[in-house]
Amino acid sequence: MIKPHGSEILNPLYVFEEEKRNELLKEAEKLPSIVLNSAAASNAVMLGCGYFNPLKGFMDLSDAKNVAQNMHTVDGLFWPVPILNIVKDVKEISDSKRIALRDPNIKGNPVLAIQQVDAIEEISKEDKDLIVKKIFKTDDPEHPGVANFYSLGNYVVSGPIQVLNFSYFEKDFPNTFRTAYQIREEILKLGWEKVVAFQTRNPMHRAHEELCKMAKEAVNADGILIHMLLGKLKKGDIPADVRDAAIRKMVELYFPPDTVLITGYGFDMLYAGPREAVLHAIFRQNCGCTHLIVGRDHAGVGKYYGPFDAQKIFDEQVPEHALEIKIFKADHTAWSKKLKKVVMMSRVPDHTKDDFVFLSGTKVREVLSNGEALPPEFSRPEVAEILGHYYRSQTE
Ligand code: ADX
Repeated sequence: MIKPHGSEILNPLYVFEEEKRNELLKEAEKLPSIVLNSAAASNAVMLGCGYFNPLKGFMDLSDAKNVAQNMHTVDGLFWPVPILNIVKDVKEISDSKRIALRDPNIKGNPVLAIQQVDAIEEISKEDKDLIVKKIFKTDDPEHPGVANFYSLGNYVVSGPIQVLNFSYFEKDFPNTFRTAYQIREEILKLGWEKVVAFQTRNPMHRAHEELCKMAKEAVNADGILIHMLLGKLKKGDIPADVRDAAIRKMVELYFPPDTVLITGYGFDMLYAGPREAVLHAIFRQNCGCTHLIVGRDHAGVGKYYGPFDAQKIFDEQVPEHALEIKIFKADHTAWSKKLKKVVMMSRVPDHTKDDFVFLSGTKVREVLSNGEALPPEFSRPEVAEILGHYYRSQTE
């Protein structure tokens, strides 16, 4: 099986032993504590799951800047996005060596993890600007990831963590939320050797479905891991439970049995385009996948990234042996009115622009929020029904 990123075996930061976990929870009640922001909480969940292997906790400022500038930590680990615990107020923890990290997304803010505090550093405006420009390729405050980053606070709290639960993800998505080690185990059990991962934050439209099928065939994979984001999204994106139901219906009806694992991970969307695509590759390698599909405007938003920037970064900025997982580069995929099916546009040179219906998650959301039904070129009818029902319920 493919090795995790940066180590021989996966080292999730979740404390598996129940007795030990209970001890730590007891200790946490006596420790100084902070309520995390949602981005840091989702970082902790990802660390707990093993998705961010081999990191041991939150980065300090020099690692964050190094990662932003040249995609390596100070110690030389290849890593594309700073994994930070940024806080607004450090009064309560300024002299503490061990602190409890509380969950902002659950009522009562229960303890999510314990952190050893290696350093508390103030982050300057210049450092924030540097990180933002490198990661998001823009400092436009209209960009949802940029706006969120600037809102987090001025202190970076670094150090290793022990994770004590998986926040709201296990309870809210019991059939879908999976850790990296659970997915590794599942793949091993199924005996799959080649596995194509599909990242998505959308209910899957026809182009998504075809991309998965084309990628599986092209790399001769044993199976597909549909791996959907279950964390926070920008306003207007479709909630995870609705996406989950839509994807399950599509797989049930339109994929051969036992070829797809439907799973999700607990992370808030960054909308960082190319850099997020590289992070996506790392955590799919960590869960045992050999390939990741990267298509048009992967992890993008608005017009901040070129349509294939998230593919180019792998050729231009990822050192040759930095990752073991391979990228399946998907061309722009659209519905052909002539052939009445989804095609890769580059494979049908006889077509003109007018021969295509362009499919995207944004377009799907636009059609639905105008109260219109999704046409069959966009969506399988059973999926359209689930999405239509959700949009109608929002306007009633
Ligand atoms: S993402 O933010 O999670 O990347 P989305 O769920 O829309 O957004 O996309 C999932 C994957 O499908 C990404 O790799 C994306 O590039 C790809 N994709 C979506 N639509 C198309 C399309 N029409 N042509 C090619 N690739 C596409």
